[in-house]
Amino acid sequence: MVKRVEHIGIAVRDLARAEAVYEALLGVGAYKRETVESEQVLTSFFQAGGTKIELLYPLSESSAIHRFLDKRGEGMHHIAFEVEDIREEMARLRRAGFRLLNEEPKRGADNKLICFVHPKSCHSVLIELCQSVDD
Ligand code: CO
Repeated sequence: MVKRVEHIGIAVRDLARAEAVYEALLGVGAYKRETVESEQVLTSFFQAGGTKIELLYPLSESSAIHRFLDKRGEGMHHIAFEVEDIREEMARLRRAGFRLLNEEPKRGADNKLICFVHPKSCHSVLIELCQSVDD
């Protein structure tokens, strides 16, 4: 079951400048920065009402965010839906014919297990499923 939009991911070329803009926009500063080593990405999180904004900055040329910025420029990168049981949702979507980008859930930022759904399956929007984990 999908619970809510957990966050919206935005790819940026200059994290400090983007943080200043989103702080001005939302009236509140980023509550944390977190590196996701496996994705070669530095993230910065803002609370925005009942959801969050996740700024995504590439740490190397091997990062998918680097390739995204090259191809599409800055902007919205993904919408993340919080789900109760990510494995169950992945199985449900597979059965429904969606193309998943991960075989197994992987570790994302902000204490989450995540999985991406291919944009081709979702009218050109990259969808992230995420499930909160405790540690
Ligand atoms: Co995300």
